Amino acid sequence: ESVPDGAAAKRGAFSSRGVFIFAAIGSAVGLGNIWRFPYVAYENGGGAFVIPYIVALLTAGIPFLFLDYAMGHRFRGSAPLSFARLRRGTEGLGWWQVGICFMIAIYYAAVMAWAVRYTIFSVTKAWGDDPEGFFFGDFLKAGDPGVSTTPVWGVLIPLLLVWVAIVAVLLLGVQKGVGASSAIFIPILVVAFGILVVRSLFLPGAAEGLDALFTPNWGALTDPTVWAAAYGQIFFSLSIGFGIMITYSSYVHKHTDMPGSGLVVGFANSGFELLAGIGVFAALGFMAQANGVAVGDVATSGIGLAFVAFPAIISEAPAGALIGVLFFFSLVIAGFTSMVSIVEVVISAVRDKFEMTRTRATIAVTIPMALVSLVFFSTTSGIYVLDIVDHFINQFGILLVAVISMLVLSWGLRVLPTFSDHLSDGSSIVVGAWWRILVSIVAPIGLVLVLGLSFWEDVK
Ligand code: PHE
Repeated sequence: ESVPDGAAAKRGAFSSRGVFIFAAIGSAVGLGNIWRFPYVAYENGGGAFVIPYIVALLTAGIPFLFLDYAMGHRFRGSAPLSFARLRRGTEGLGWWQVGICFMIAIYYAAVMAWAVRYTIFSVTKAWGDDPEGFFFGDFLKAGDPGVSTTPVWGVLIPLLLVWVAIVAVLLLGVQKGVGASSAIFIPILVVAFGILVVRSLFLPGAAEGLDALFTPNWGALTDPTVWAAAYGQIFFSLSIGFGIMITYSSYVHKHTDMPGSGLVVGFANSGFELLAGIGVFAALGFMAQANGVAVGDVATSGIGLAFVAFPAIISEAPAGALIGVLFFFSLVIAGFTSMVSIVEVVISAVRDKFEMTRTRATIAVTIPMALVSLVFFSTTSGIYVLDIVDHFINQFGILLVAVISMLVLSWGLRVLPTFSDHLSDGSSIVVGAWWRILVSIVAPIGLVLVLGLSFWEDVK
């Protein structure tokens, strides 16, 4: 049964479709776009990666995004509540997503705190001429006397600040906090990152970087792990299967064009991903040329890209400090709006379950999260936790829950026809049989293959 608007009013709502779209883009555009996509594309066929990527986007990503929207918009609850309203006994699927969000938030906060610190480090190039030794041997060992020159507060204060900022936004609520912060930050991000990309394109060696990224390796198309990478990237990047989109769409007024919004969000996210690929590889091309090596020797992703390769680029490039500030500032902003969305999933679930006010739920949820992240990341072991959590979540957490919920919704509960009607209502896009076939057959088959493969890669 769907729930009347009145009951939802107390939970908070986005003031317009535009604000919802900004919030959804804010969640989607995050660390994954900037530090994950460029390398995944490069490693998996370069220019040829476009094909599996678009196939995964159109046959699984967008259809699943619509499914998440339908759940939240129709049942008007957090992930567990929406599942519970759909059918008793499926609430657990929602709590699984809440658990994943809880874990991601803990490490996302740490990475953002590092980016805050590195925004400042960029000005003086505090890492000297050994960025790698500085990051792993000094910065991450902060507070360890005799080993590190960084005092422990050098890491803890930024982490605390990140949490305070997140809590402040979440306390402000759905529209004034979540919605407004994304509507402000996303345009700022696009401008800051746009300047960074243009600057990078003028560095010597940029063309070689782009060549390395875009030269297609058509042979990759027959490699199943390349397809697996495309599906994994799409799901992580669109923030689907985490309960985020269920939660956010529960705050959208009835009779809103949800499919139209989904297409905007999907293409905006991929557009930003492409932009990041260009910026990052232009900068890597510069670094390769400056050191007389091939782009392949310097290309990397994640922590190595942000905290080792970029500092080296910043040290060597003309006007490097500007590049550094723009790069790390972009990471902070992009990460912030994503992190707000993950924590909101947990808050919303706790509020719905225990009928708490936003303020109480926010405090009850964020204090333990912040404490765990402060404890883990004031010690070096944090980085190993990060690796394990990241791998586990990407490979199994999300894709598995995605397949299970697609199968349960389409074959177990047979709700897709009602969902298609709900989605099509008020939209110029007819979410008809094509969507039901994608969600019930095409996407699950794709995902099961991908899951099987990555499992095989792990045990092999
Ligand atoms: N979509 C975000 C990104 O691309 C990552 C993210 C995943 C954020 C899950 C929140 C939850 O970085």
